[in-house]
Formats: sequence, structure tokens, C-alpha cells
Amino acid sequence: MDHFEIRDGVMHAEDISLEALAAKVGTPFYCYSAATIERHYTVFAAAVAGLGQGTPLVAFAVKANPNLSVLATLARLGAGADVVSGGELARALAAGIPADRIVFSGVGKQNHELAAGIEAGILQFNVESEAEIDMLGKVAAHYARPVEISIRINPAVDPKTHGKISTGGADAKFGIPWDRVPAAFAQAAAHEWLRPIGLAAHIGSQLFDLGPVEDTIRRLGELARAMTAAGHNIKRIDCGGGLGVPYRADQPLPPSPAAYAAMVARVTAGWPWRLMFEPGRMIVGNAGVLVSSVILTKEGASKHFVVVDAAMNDLLRPSLYNAWHDFRAVRPRAERCVATIVGPICETGDTFADDRDVEAVGSGDLVAFMTAGAYGATMASTYNSRPLVPEVMVKGAQWSVVSERNQPAAMLALDALAPWL
Ligand code: LLP
Repeated sequence: MDHFEIRDGVMHAEDISLEALAAKVGTPFYCYSAATIERHYTVFAAAVAGLGQGTPLVAFAVKANPNLSVLATLARLGAGADVVSGGELARALAAGIPADRIVFSGVGKQNHELAAGIEAGILQFNVESEAEIDMLGKVAAHYARPVEISIRINPAVDPKTHGKISTGGADAKFGIPWDRVPAAFAQAAAHEWLRPIGLAAHIGSQLFDLGPVEDTIRRLGELARAMTAAGHNIKRIDCGGGLGVPYRADQPLPPSPAAYAAMVARVTAGWPWRLMFEPGRMIVGNAGVLVSSVILTKEGASKHFVVVDAAMNDLLRPSLYNAWHDFRAVRPRAERCVATIVGPICETGDTFADDRDVEAVGSGDLVAFMTAGAYGATMASTYNSRPLVPEVMVKGAQWSVVSERNQPAAMLALDALAPWL
């Protein structure tokens, strides 16, 4: 569920009309609903509360939406963070997420990032290769501080999602093949300052089928038992993220947090370890829309084009993954039409929807791409020298620009003329 609805004929974010916001900040812009973020986090955290030993850690996957106000909204609810770079670590800390709720994932962490995590005193690193064990062992020795690690396994399962966001297959770059986990634990334990205390997995994103997730969590449990028997002090199991969100009103819903939690409860009953989760998309996906204006419409040989002022650089998902985002008029009329929705960028991939039945819109109308809160603004670029789109957060009747539109002059100022020119 979300808090974007038509009131008095106009789409609102909570109590604020998107028309009013557009008049203040210009288009395109991302708009987030704080109530939706809060609701999704609370529903998920409540669903998994009571699973495993102690209180589970819900570590929001910062990559889904790293905006400081989004992170601070979650920090206030007690969320942790799953970070994958020094930049994300800095954002999580700046937003007030305590270091002991931060987990550092990623297949290519660099020495300076490992050092930043150790200096901050984060809860754990999820280590993804034998080479990383030795890198981290050296950095930990430099600081002479004990560092808790989980081994991220590659469970060799097919998560049955889009190939570009599948991470659990045997040939994916992620994790250590599960049959090498005992050797990896022994390798880690041989480092004076490393404490191998857990196992982790994340098999993919936008998951609709809980079967492969269940197989993976079961495998984590088997390995944790084996590692305990081998004398390691296992404390935590990280089940990853990946739960899908509904992008299309006309398609079946993904599993609910309750269904997901029921599956986890079944698999982990009696486990003596603390559980961790890394949801990203399901917390913020429906909490954001990209608001744009129709520049003009034009007729091709056989297509009716709607050219909007947002483009693939602002919301990359349709171009990159053929992803579907519902397209809605901010002030809907009764008529509908079949349209191909495109941005102004000079390539055909700059297409949001192809021959889609949509609410009829014309030049000057405001439109919204729905479910754009996850992997939207954060994947934006300045391609075609377009400024990064601002982000606005709404809470009830309050709103605030939480990321500014960068200006062409500021972008130009980052360039320099080579001295010979
Ligand atoms: N944990 C790890 C280690 C991850 O790599 C990811 C996402 C997550 C958690 C969160 O997954 P979620 O709950 O959001 O599905 N840009 C793509 C999605 C890439 C996901 C990468 N990893 C998209 O727009 O669909």
C-alpha cells in the first residue's frame, strides 16, 4: 500500500497535491511519502519480530534509496543499514544509524572501505571471497581490533527473477561457493583479529517465489550447525533481502511480509542464532514517484508519442531491465489512449512504456511514474548534461526538498580545461 492517491481530482502525496509541489520545485522531481516508508518498515519489522534468537536486525539496503532523509526516517524507527561502499557507510552514519546496526556487504570492498568500517565499529562485514578474508585480516591487524565477519555463501540456486538482478546462481560473482565455507571459516579463524561468527546470503531482487529463498535459508542453517560442530562460535544468520513489490496494478501480488515471515519461521524454528534481514525495495519502492511534465505529443508513422521531461538518466530501470512503472496522470481525465512514453534523450532506449494503454495526457500535463522510490534517484546520471533530479519528501501536510537539483553551471564547474588548451 502507499499514500499516493487522487483527492479532489489531483494526485496527492499524503496531504500535499503533486500540482502544488511541481509549482514550487519544477519538474521532473522524485517525491517520497514518509508515511509509506514508515509503514513498510514497521510491517516488515513486526512480521519478523520474534524469529530467531533475540531481536532480529532489519538492515535497510541503502543502495535502494540512500537519501539522507529516507535513512533518517528509518533510523528513527530503529532500522539498521546494509551498506556496500564507503559512501553508503558515511550516509548511514550521518543519518543516525548506530554503527552496531550496520553490516558491510559487497564483492569488492577496498582497503580504505574496510578500514572505515572498522574505525566506525560496525556490527559485521559480510565477506564474499577468500581473498577478502586475507585483506580484512590485514586491515584488522593494523587496527588490532577484533572484527566480526559473516561468510556470504553462494548457494547455487535460481532465484527466478530478471537475470541482471539475480545473485544466487553458481556462476554469479557473489559469495563463496557453499561447499568451500568450512575452509573459509578455518582461513578466517587463523587470522588473529577476525571472528567468523555468521553466515549470510542474498540471492536476488524483486523475488516473487519464496521457494529458492527457503532453500537458501535452510542451507545457511545446515552450514551454521556444521560450523558450530567444527568449533566456531556462530551468532548471526543474515537472510538477505529481495522481496518483490507490485509494479503493475494488473498483475499478481508478490508474497506479503507475513507470508515471507511465516516461511522464515518454519525454516528457522528453534535456531539459537540471531537473524538479520536486508530489505531494500520492499521498504521504499512504493514510497516514491517520479513526477514529470508532458513537453509535447507527436505522431510517428504508427505510434502516438508522449514526450515527457523525465528521461532514462532520471529513471533507468525501464531502459536497463525493461522494467514496468505504472504511468498515471496527476490530474486524470476520463479519456484513455495508447501511447509510447519517451524522454528527450537522443536514443531509442529512452522509452518508459511502449504502446501502452494509459490515461490521455497532453502538452503541459503533469504525470507520475509510480513505484519509483527504490533504485530510482540513486541510479540517475547526468547523461546529456541533464541536472540530477531533486528529491522531495512529504510527511502529512509538510514537505521538504531533501536533495537539490544540481545546476548546469555547477556541473560545468567540475570540468577543467587541460592546460594546453
Ligand atoms: N542485500 C544485498 C547484499 C543486495 O545486493 C541487495 C540488492 C539487497 C540486500 C536488497 O535487495 P532488495 O530487497 O532491494 O531486493 N537496481 C536493481 C536492483 C539491484 C539490487 C541489488 N542488490 C533494480 O532496479 O531492480
